[in-house]
Amino acid sequence: MSKSDTPPESTPKAATGTKGATFIAQTLSQAVYTLWRSFDEAGFETARLDARLLVIGATGVSREALLQTPEMVLTEDQCARIARYQQQRLGREPVSRILGHRDFYGRSFKISPATLDPRPETETLIECVLDYAKANDLLQKPLRIIDVGTGSGNLLLTLLAELPNASGVGIDISPAALKVANDNASRLGVLERATFQCQDGLQEPVESFDIFVSNPPYIVRDHIPELAPEVRDFDPHLALDGGEDGLAFYREMAPHITSVIPAGLAVFEIGYDQGDEVVDILKSHTQGHRTVQFEVKKDLAGHQRCVALQTLS
Ligand SMILES: C[S@@+](CC[C@H](N)C(=O)[O-])C[C@H]1O[C@@H](n2cnc3c(N)ncnc32)[C@H](O)[C@@H]1O
Repeated sequence: MSKSDTPPESTPKAATGTKGATFIAQTLSQAVYTLWRSFDEAGFETARLDARLLVIGATGVSREALLQTPEMVLTEDQCARIARYQQQRLGREPVSRILGHRDFYGRSFKISPATLDPRPETETLIECVLDYAKANDLLQKPLRIIDVGTGSGNLLLTLLAELPNASGVGIDISPAALKVANDNASRLGVLERATFQCQDGLQEPVESFDIFVSNPPYIVRDHIPELAPEVRDFDPHLALDGGEDGLAFYREMAPHITSVIPAGLAVFEIGYDQGDEVVDILKSHTQGHRTVQFEVKKDLAGHQRCVALQTLS
């Protein structure tokens, strides 16, 4: 236990959360301890981390201050905010949704109820594109990138931030998600190299690009009710629902892929057990193309995470 998590010693203040439960704390360390205990009792695996992140988010103190000034006295407003956050988390809302942002590949992305909460394993797609760009001496080239199902823009905007001469288009069917992606482009300073289009996948024709990335909805529709409440109740179903077998979006995009990427790289995120099927779908639509190489890449946990397809003209 660190100094910031020690049990309360002074007389605590009480505040009331949204569901009427009483939250009692006077100092930063008491707040962390109180939240940690309640999350631990609720069985959350990341109870202590969640408690710290929410106290930091509610008070605006830095991580360092949390450790160095655990006796900092909380204001009533801070107490009320912490109490609210505690109730939201106990209602299984993810910490990133409560705070409204999520770190992805070292940058902070704003998220909203209209966007998926970006997952760390999706960074595998970024690594895949950057490895390809390095191997082909493209890091400084004016690459054109398309991201289908852009959500918060985490894939497209990270690539634009990493590849200083690249520009690109983010497509999504949700206007509310595109608004968030646009805000993130502005926050990350890449707005002048990003455009956003509201459309249904690749149903409307797009120009050709060098790099294609997509993290489409790929959950089997009937499995959605069994997902963890953090996902089922807070990620938009539009971002999860991959149709009856989870593969609907790959089937819709596959016929367009060699015209969108005549010579370049396409990377699709997949579920851990979808690699063979997604490769088969893509192969059946790329047979006429001169050279196509496929690779299924794993994430850091060792699960299949994306299918990469290189087209050579
Ligand atoms: C799994 S989320 C991925 C979001 C983000 N790229 C990420 O990696 O976190 C899928 C995204 O596809 C969008 N989407 C769903 N159906 C679509 C469609 N028919 N055409 C375009 N986008 C769609 C959803 O709104 C959602 O933003």
